[in-house]
Amino acid sequence: MNSAPIKKCLFPAAGYGTRFLPATKATPKEMLPVLTKPLIQYGVEEAVEAGINTMAIVTGRGKRALEDHFDRSYELEHQIEGSSKELLMTDIRTIIRECTFSYTRQVEMKGLGHAILTGETLIGHEPFAVVLADDLCDNDGDGVLAQMIELYKKHKCSIVAIEEVPKEDTSKYGVIAGDEIEENVFQITDMVEKPDPKDAPSNLAIIGRYILTPDIFDIIRETKPGKGGEIQITDALLEQAKNGKVLAYKFQGQRFDCGSVDGFVEATNYFYKKSKA
Ligand code: G1P
Repeated sequence: MNSAPIKKCLFPAAGYGTRFLPATKATPKEMLPVLTKPLIQYGVEEAVEAGINTMAIVTGRGKRALEDHFDRSYELEHQIEGSSKELLMTDIRTIIRECTFSYTRQVEMKGLGHAILTGETLIGHEPFAVVLADDLCDNDGDGVLAQMIELYKKHKCSIVAIEEVPKEDTSKYGVIAGDEIEENVFQITDMVEKPDPKDAPSNLAIIGRYILTPDIFDIIRETKPGKGGEIQITDALLEQAKNGKVLAYKFQGQRFDCGSVDGFVEATNYFYKKSKA
C-alpha cells in the first residue's frame, strides 16, 4: 500500500491535436487559449489548487512553446513593466515562482499508457496525478483533482474520474463498470477503451484526471497494445483493478472536451460568461 502524499502531476502533452488543424500545425494544442489562458495553464492551476507544485510534462516535437510559457520572458517583462498589462501576468508569474517544471519527450506516439510510462523518469516511485489538459474542468468548490486527492487519502489506490455520458458517446471514452461503495465512488470491476455503445459496460466514461500508484509503471510495461494498436492506460488500470483495487469517482463540477471544436467553443462561452458575472 502506498501512503506517500501526491506531490507531482504528469501532463501527457505529446499529441498532434489534428482536430484543430491548421491551428495546431505550429502551435501545441495545449497552448490554444480559452479566453486569454492556454489550456495547459488551466490544468496546472487545478494541480496547484490541489496542493501540487511539481509539474512533469511529456512533450514531443514542436512543443517548445510549452516550456517557454512556464518560463520568464525578460524582454516582454521589461516592455510592460509598470504598465497595467502587468496585471495580466499575475497568475502565470505566481505559477512560475511556486512550481517546478520538468520535461521529457515521447519519441513515438504509442498511446496514453505509453505516454504515462515515458513520464516515469520524472515521477519516480511515488503516487502521482495525471491531467489531460484538453479535458478542461471547473468547479466552484474544490477542483476535480483536489476532490480526487481527498479520496486518495482515504483509499490509497489508483482513482479515475468519471462522468455519465449519453450511451451513443461511449466509443469516445474509456468506460467502466463497478460497484458503488459510497456515494459517487465505484470500485472498478471492468473497464473497456472506447467500446461500441452495444458493448459498453455502462455509460460511466473516464475523463482526463487520474491518480495513479507507481506500480502502474510495471503494469504498463507488460500491457500489450489494445484499441487502435496503442498501449492504453485503461487496459493497465483494469489489470491493476483485478489484482487489487481501483476506484472511479463521479466528480463535482463541469468538464469540457476541449479536444473537440464543439467542447472548445462551449468552454469559451462558459468562461466568458463567468468572467463577466
Ligand atoms: C483518453 C483515454 C480514454 C479517456 C479519455 C478522456 O482518450 O484513452 O480512456 O476516456 O482520454 O479524455 P483520448 O481522448 O486521448 O483518445
